[in-house]
Amino acid sequence: MTDQQLSLTTASYDDGDVDANPTRNPHLADLVARRYSRRQLMGGMSAMTTAVFGGALLAGCDDDGNDVITVSDGVNVQTQGGRVVTLTATATDNASTTKFTQVSGPTVPVITSGNSITFTAPNVAQSTALVFEFTASGGSGSSSARSTVTVLPATLAFTAVAKNLNDVVTVPSDYQVTVLYRLGDPIAAGVAAYANDGSDTNFAQRAGDHHDGMSLFGLAATGNAPDTTNNTRGLLVLNHENITQAYLHANGASPSPRPEAEAIKEIEAHGVSVIEVTRPSNSGAWSYVQGSALNRRITPNTPVQFNGPVRGDAALRTLYSADGTTGRGTINNCANGYMPWGTYLTNEENWAGYFRRTAGDAAVRTAAGNAKQNVSLTRYGISEGRAGNYGWTTVTPSDPSSTVFARWNATATASAAADGTADFRNEPFQFGWVVEIDPYTQTSTPRKRTALGRMNHEGCMAGRVVAGVRPAFYMGDDAQNEYIYKFVSATPWVAADATPSDRLATGDKYLDTGTLYVARFNADGTGTWLPLTFGQNGLTASNASYAFADQADVLINTRLAADVLGATRMDRPEWTAVNPVNGEMYCTLTNNSSRTPGTTDAANPRAYTDPKLPQGDVVNADPPTSTQASRGNANGHVIRLRETGDTTEATAFTWDIYAFGAGSDLDPTNINLSGLDASNDFSSPDGLWFGLPSNASGQVAPVLWIETDDGAYTDVTNCMLLAAMPGSVGDGGTRVVNNTLTTAANTTTTSTTTTRIGAAPGSKLKRFLVGPKECEITGITSTPDGRSLFVNIQHPGENGGPANITSSWPANQAGAVSTPTRPRSATIVITKTDGGVVGL
Ligand code: FEO
Ligand code: CA
Ligand code: CA
Repeated sequence: MTDQQLSLTTASYDDGDVDANPTRNPHLADLVARRYSRRQLMGGMSAMTTAVFGGALLAGCDDDGNDVITVSDGVNVQTQGGRVVTLTATATDNASTTKFTQVSGPTVPVITSGNSITFTAPNVAQSTALVFEFTASGGSGSSSARSTVTVLPATLAFTAVAKNLNDVVTVPSDYQVTVLYRLGDPIAAGVAAYANDGSDTNFAQRAGDHHDGMSLFGLAATGNAPDTTNNTRGLLVLNHENITQAYLHANGASPSPRPEAEAIKEIEAHGVSVIEVTRPSNSGAWSYVQGSALNRRITPNTPVQFNGPVRGDAALRTLYSADGTTGRGTINNCANGYMPWGTYLTNEENWAGYFRRTAGDAAVRTAAGNAKQNVSLTRYGISEGRAGNYGWTTVTPSDPSSTVFARWNATATASAAADGTADFRNEPFQFGWVVEIDPYTQTSTPRKRTALGRMNHEGCMAGRVVAGVRPAFYMGDDAQNEYIYKFVSATPWVAADATPSDRLATGDKYLDTGTLYVARFNADGTGTWLPLTFGQNGLTASNASYAFADQADVLINTRLAADVLGATRMDRPEWTAVNPVNGEMYCTLTNNSSRTPGTTDAANPRAYTDPKLPQGDVVNADPPTSTQASRGNANGHVIRLRETGDTTEATAFTWDIYAFGAGSDLDPTNINLSGLDASNDFSSPDGLWFGLPSNASGQVAPVLWIETDDGAYTDVTNCMLLAAMPGSVGDGGTRVVNNTLTTAANTTTTSTTTTRIGAAPGSKLKRFLVGPKECEITGITSTPDGRSLFVNIQHPGENGGPANITSSWPANQAGAVSTPTRPRSATIVITKTDGGVVGL
């Protein structure tokens, strides 16, 4: 680039001619030019852009002896979106005031320090000039010079991390990992540090296990007021989906009947954390604040209330909640949602597994006139003969009146009241919901939003909000062959609701009334949102498979209603994410071992055999003989849709598949359809999140973060986090997939399916992180400036136990440990050495 020298101007010279130096030193402009010639390429495409121009300028006088104020020449520098730029000018020391003013280009917030300004370059569609003027004044004189920062479009500029099986979090070399919040970390004052030997108690005041979905809620510098622009203080809210039971106890879990203390610990290690996190400056280390008055644990025992159409329904009545309006806690909270009015959604996923249902229950329900409940329980996976996870119902409580263990036994007692108010037969209907939490109000009661349906809720992300338009919330039901949903509020968005005084009342406004839809993906690349509205399209009492009584019954039995409507059975819908620029909705379809060639469709087009082989075996037998082979849609894919008219209110859309997971060694014609290579091949996408529009990672070409929860490629690599800059729906074309699946019994079936595939991602998809052994990469969020990325590492070493520790993470993140140390799920923070936006 050329060095555009700008004239120095002073108050003393009308013609702009510059000779500010009364000494015989080299001419000032020459000095500056020489300095600058060494710096003009700084920030080109390398690291942080820092332009220091000019040096110590000497004060001078003009012919009349008046002070002459002089500033260094401006500079031209080049950078790209997401990079930190620092401009430092120099003025003669007789200048009393100096300032930088942005003259042109997209306005950027700057941090001023003396004669320097620092800002993070926004993203741009094409090369864009930002011009800043530096002015020095004093006495009657002033001088100024302009600098031009040319910003180029952002790219994923990091070097892809290699697949690996190391027991550590690996990130690109110019990034750092800080471990922030680990299983057992104390959040209340006076709670002891975590011993991590199975002796710890009181998880209601410690971090829970299995960190999952996560959002950051900005705080003002002090107090509990929201400030969504603060990059150094906030409330981190995260889910604790499940537990690695063995490590919670000194010698692993005791058998049933379970000891009360062990069960209490396991129950309290589930739920949600709200913790204050801070860093002292934009470059300091993040930490959480033990003892903050804003810290909170929500556990399966925390009182909650029901909202929406199902509130008070007969199906919610229990011994604990005679009127069906309240309940206790939330469990198996997987993914999440950040609401535009400043609340957190935590979503109940594999809740069904916690319930015991013994043989004979169905007969009791039938005799009580509730035979329909048997259909419902079966559809949600709660069949007779289930013991319930972790055997909590086998505890004999020290307080005989306590029902915190008995509540997990859904078996109807024949002698108990038929309406369910004398036992916990209806407790399963209290779960499977989206739960809204106001993180800023520690005493607030979480609200279960029943209008959003009941399922294995994974993500629930809001579409873009537009004033006057009814907002939408996109959701996946994570089980094999389940569906993708959206809830469209009945209430058009009001911009002032972004900063409400009562956040949960605002949630009532947008989440309690509206229409729940389920998606049907058509083979021609179009799709339809089918309304789950009682009385329409067969959702009536005369429906043969299940007689729907009313809208509450439809919502409690969302899956049964979606079956009736003919929704498309998907390959396990996990997280949803919405591109902040074009509004397209992405959904991970993690994998589906029950997909067969005979059941493929355009939106779920693959059914094959992924010859997962023992580590070290480089031969891919075909057909595989290994019993470890993964079958069906073994590696998952990411589907995306664009609403008709680009409105969240739409009832139709177009779709394609952004990317198909696959090992890069698999058949490029029928399995590795997206042409993945060693830099970006992945399997079982799960977490999904777009960069925020408040920084370059969410502007123009937003970064899509993809996290994996895999078991099919784990012979080659631990789970990972990838960064992408995806295009848009329709940027690829159609593709014919020839499926061949050979079962373990050596029966082979085939099919030919035509799908819609996006443009091959190529270098716009890169592996950014690989996690430690036996982990899954889960929740993800960032500061508004995108310079701190928070990521959750779930269940490292989950296949081991106290006598067989299979991962020592995170104790070993900073270096190997001398003796194996029990692993802990943890939140990490990733920052870039030069302080830029993570990923760019
Ligand atoms: Fe908890 Fe569907 O992942
Ligand atoms: Ca998940
Ligand atoms: Ca998963």
